[in-house]
Amino acid sequence: MCGIAGYIGKKKAAELLLKSIKNLEYRGYDSVGMVTSSEGKIHIRKGAGKVDEVNAKLDFPSMPGTVGIAHTRWATHGKPSDRNAHPHISYSGKIAIAHNGIIENYLELKESLQGIEFKSDTDSEVLAHLIEKNYQGNLLKAVQLSLKMVIGTYAICVINTNSEEIVVARNGSPLAIGIGKGENFVGSDVSAFVAHTKKVIYLNDFESAEIRTNSVSIFNNEGKKISREPKTIDWDIEKAQKGGYKHFMLKEIHEQPQVVRDSISIPVFFPMKERPSRIFIVACGTAGYAGLVGKYIIEKSARIPVEVAYASEFRYAEPIIGKDDLFIAISQSGETADTLAALRLAKQKGAHTLAIINVMDSTIARESDAVIYTRAGPEIGVASTKAFISQLVVLYKLAAELSGKKYDLTTIPQKIDAILSQEEKIKETAKKYFLAHNFLYIGRNLNFPIALEGALKLKEISYIHAEGYASGEMKHGPIALVSDEVPTVAIAPRDSTYSKIVSNMQEIKARNGKIIAVASEKDGEIAKHADDILPIPTTEEDLYPLLTVVPLQLLAYYIADLRECDIDKPRNLAKSVTVE
Ligand code: AGP
Repeated sequence: MCGIAGYIGKKKAAELLLKSIKNLEYRGYDSVGMVTSSEGKIHIRKGAGKVDEVNAKLDFPSMPGTVGIAHTRWATHGKPSDRNAHPHISYSGKIAIAHNGIIENYLELKESLQGIEFKSDTDSEVLAHLIEKNYQGNLLKAVQLSLKMVIGTYAICVINTNSEEIVVARNGSPLAIGIGKGENFVGSDVSAFVAHTKKVIYLNDFESAEIRTNSVSIFNNEGKKISREPKTIDWDIEKAQKGGYKHFMLKEIHEQPQVVRDSISIPVFFPMKERPSRIFIVACGTAGYAGLVGKYIIEKSARIPVEVAYASEFRYAEPIIGKDDLFIAISQSGETADTLAALRLAKQKGAHTLAIINVMDSTIARESDAVIYTRAGPEIGVASTKAFISQLVVLYKLAAELSGKKYDLTTIPQKIDAILSQEEKIKETAKKYFLAHNFLYIGRNLNFPIALEGALKLKEISYIHAEGYASGEMKHGPIALVSDEVPTVAIAPRDSTYSKIVSNMQEIKARNGKIIAVASEKDGEIAKHADDILPIPTTEEDLYPLLTVVPLQLLAYYIADLRECDIDKPRNLAKSVTVE
C-alpha cells in the first residue's frame, strides 16, 4: 500500500504535492519521491526515508512546474532505497509514473522490454518503459494499452514532458480525483487534497482518466468516455486517512478481503532444499496465534512435526533445534525483540530460518535466511487484524507447498465480505455484553488458536479480562468460572469437532453461562445452545480460521468502542515491542 498524489493547475505543483504526500504518509513511509513537468522537461527527486527526512535533503518545493506527481512508498518488491523509490522514469526520460499495487507479471513484461536498462529492482518500473514503448503521441492511449498487458493491482499516475495532462488508472488499489477551480488533484485517498477541494470523483476498477487543468475525462475499461458526477465529501484530513471509518482498526478489518486477494499470489519458498525434519514456528502475540493455526494445517497436510513457541520462552528454554530443522519467525513489524532474539538463537544452533514479515527490510527480515512478505500494507492500529489474515494465507500456501494439498482460497474474500455485511448484528451483540468484566473464549482444533486470538483482541482494546481455552479443557478447571456474569464466546462452525463443542456449550448453559456462538450461517441447531449467534459462511473445514476470526475482531472492536477505549492506541501497548 503506498500513497500517490498528483496536481495540475496554475500553482507550483511541488509545494502542494509535498503537503499531499505528508497526508498520505500513513499509507507507506520507507521512501518518497516527486516529479514535475516544466518547459518540456521532467524533473525528479526521490530517496529512501520518511517525507520530512528526504525533503530536508532534496528540497521538493524548489522543483519547477505546475504539473506533478508524488509518491510515498510501502515496499513490496525491491528494498527501500533511493533507486527503488517512486516515481520511475521511462527509458527516454520523457514519461514518469507513480504506482500503488503489485504487478504480478512484471518479470514477463520485463522480458518484452529487452535492451532497456532498468534502474530499480521494483515491479512498478516496468510500467514506465511499457507506456513509453506504446506511446504514439497520446499518453492516455499508451497507458490504456499498456495496462491491458498487466496482471495485478494498480493505482497509477502518469505525466510526460508536455505538461498538459495527468493520466491515471486503477485496478484493486484506490484512486480519487479532486475537482478544483482551474486546477485538479489526484490522491490514493481524499486526504491528499481535501484541504483544497471537497468535490471528488472515485475511479472504479479498470477505469482510467485524463486530467487537465480545466477538465477531467473518465474512460471505462473499453476506453469509452463515460460521465461521472463528482461527490461532495464532508471529511477532514484525519477522517479521510481512516477512509471514513472511526478508527484505523475498523478500516483495517474491512481491508481484509482485499488483503486476502493480494496475499493469495504471494510467492512462497523455503531456505532449504531438503524436507525439514521438524518445523519451529516462533512469534509473539497475534503472530504466535497465526503460527498455531500453521501448526495444525502443516501437521495435518504435510505430516511434519511442528513446534510452536512464544519467542520470549523459546529464547531461554535451551531449545533442541539444529541443522535439519526449519525455524519460522512470524512478525508484522519485523522488529519484535523477543522474536529477533529467538531467530538469532535458532541460527546459532544451525537451523534454517524463514521469516513471514509485513515490513520490508526490517531487522528480522534482514537476518533470516529467507523472507516471505505478507501483503497487508501498513497496519496502523496496534491491534493486529489484516496482518494476521495475511500471515494465515502465507501459512496455508506453505502447507500446500510442503504437502501438495490444494487450498482454494479464492472464495475467502467474498466470504469475509459476507461477514462484514453482518456488522450491525455484531454491534447489537456487543451492546449486550460490553459491561462484562470477564470473558471466556473456547474453540477446538483449528478453532483453538482463534479462541486465543479472539480473547487477545478483546483484552488489548477493551481492557476486559478474557481467556482463550481449548474447549475440551473446560472441565479441567475453567468451568468453575462460568456464571451469568461471565459470557463465553464459542467458536462452533460445522466442522468435524462440532458435536464436541456443542457438548461444551451445553455444559456452560447448564450453569447459566451466556454463550455467543460463531457458527455456520446454515446451522439450524446452534440456536438451541447459544444466546447470540455470529454467523459465518461455510467453507472447507481447514479454512475456517480465515473466517471465524473476523466476527471476533468486530466484536472486540464494538465492545471497546462502547467502552470508549482508545482503540488504535490502547493503554500500555506499542505497535512494535522492540524491548524484552
Ligand atoms: C496483536 O494485536 C498485538 N498488538 C501484539 O500481540 C502483537 O501481535 C505482538 O506484539 C507481535 O508483534 P509483531 O507481529 O510485530 O512481531
